[in-house]
Amino acid sequence: MIIGIPKEIMHDEARVACTPEVVGKFVKEGFEVLVEKSAGDGALFHDEDYVKAGAKMMDDPQEIYEKAEIILKVKEPLFNEKLGKHEIDMMHKGQYLITFIHPASPVNHEMVKQMTAKGIIAITLDGIPRISRAQNLDALTSMSTCAGYKGILLAANRLTTFLPQMFTAVGKIEPAKVMVIGVGVAGLQALATAKRLGAVTYAADIRPAAAEQAMSLGAKVVDTTVPAELAITEGGYANRLPDDVLLREREALKGTIQQMDIVFCSALIPGKVAPVIITEEMVKGMKRGAVIVDISIDQGGNCECTPRGDVEVKHHVTLMGIKNIPGLLPTSSTWMFANNLYNLVYYLVKDGKVVLDRSDEVIAKSLVCIDGELVHVGAREAMGLN
Ligand code: NAI
Repeated sequence: MIIGIPKEIMHDEARVACTPEVVGKFVKEGFEVLVEKSAGDGALFHDEDYVKAGAKMMDDPQEIYEKAEIILKVKEPLFNEKLGKHEIDMMHKGQYLITFIHPASPVNHEMVKQMTAKGIIAITLDGIPRISRAQNLDALTSMSTCAGYKGILLAANRLTTFLPQMFTAVGKIEPAKVMVIGVGVAGLQALATAKRLGAVTYAADIRPAAAEQAMSLGAKVVDTTVPAELAITEGGYANRLPDDVLLREREALKGTIQQMDIVFCSALIPGKVAPVIITEEMVKGMKRGAVIVDISIDQGGNCECTPRGDVEVKHHVTLMGIKNIPGLLPTSSTWMFANNLYNLVYYLVKDGKVVLDRSDEVIAKSLVCIDGELVHVGAREAMGLN
């Protein structure tokens, strides 16, 4: 089978879907791998290393799209300004596309419809269920790990103070205080990073299990006042809270938030708009020079006034709504992503052919369209097709 790795065309995207090391693994398994020239430059994976690993380097992405049976990408198909063509227009019927598609998101509906009409078989990485047997396929978890780590570094860089406690010849400096709201994958990594840097850490999550994990990382847990029966669904995921309960949560967290140097926001209910936990009024009451990193910005953000995709100082607080944080750590995030994709392709391909067992939860949840039919439940719901 032929695997194609085009260069990412989203502005400022430094990641690539495959490292030379992973190309080597594919080649060993009998795949042919076509990589667009300079595709890995942004993540410091260079053409000569891809060649050494057995890849065939291509000048023209159109040729990759024509020849490959499986296309591996980081970002959803986009319009290629240089070629004056949408990536979907370069693809063909029956071709497999594996990438992050976020098919339920309204901005992607048109693109998803076009892929469906074209007969592309699309698998979205954001659909891989968070179950133990799928852990090594889960690129979303990998990217959240990157966002948790790098998000804290970005915030620390903005602080005008030290993060750790310092004993100096002129006296003692108190450590910074960092709070993480929403202690999922990204939040746990943020807590661990802040702790390693010497901050005093605080955490809040509506799921008791998450609060326990935060505590085991040395964080002080702040009570959200949300009862467990309202907080979690039968499957153990976080629930969308009724307005009055969310209001109480805000009140419960307000006092702590206003003492913090850094607040890292990563609260999310899968597939929903992120809950607003910090209002503009709360920001006004925060410490001068405090930093909010709001990584749920793609889902609307946990802070009412975070700028989408930007950094802004408002009411003497730095608000960071940077969108592609894993892209700021391109070598490590690409390494993790490429290995997740290798495992996923290995999972899907049997005897040189992709085999899609639609009764398998991993396939059922990540398959977007096949044979001209849109099958992704979340996307169908969001488009009003169910
Ligand atoms: P996750 O689903 O593992 O964690 C979300 C956590 O929020 C859960 O523990 C949940 O219980 C908690 N939560 C939900 N409602 C809450 C509430 N009202 N109060 C307190 N906690 C609440 O999600 P993950 O993977 O950690 O991602 C977090 C966010 O980061 C998502 O919005 C994701 O899209 C985003 N992200 C952003 C990136 C960026 O570059 N900006 C990169 C990677 C992820």
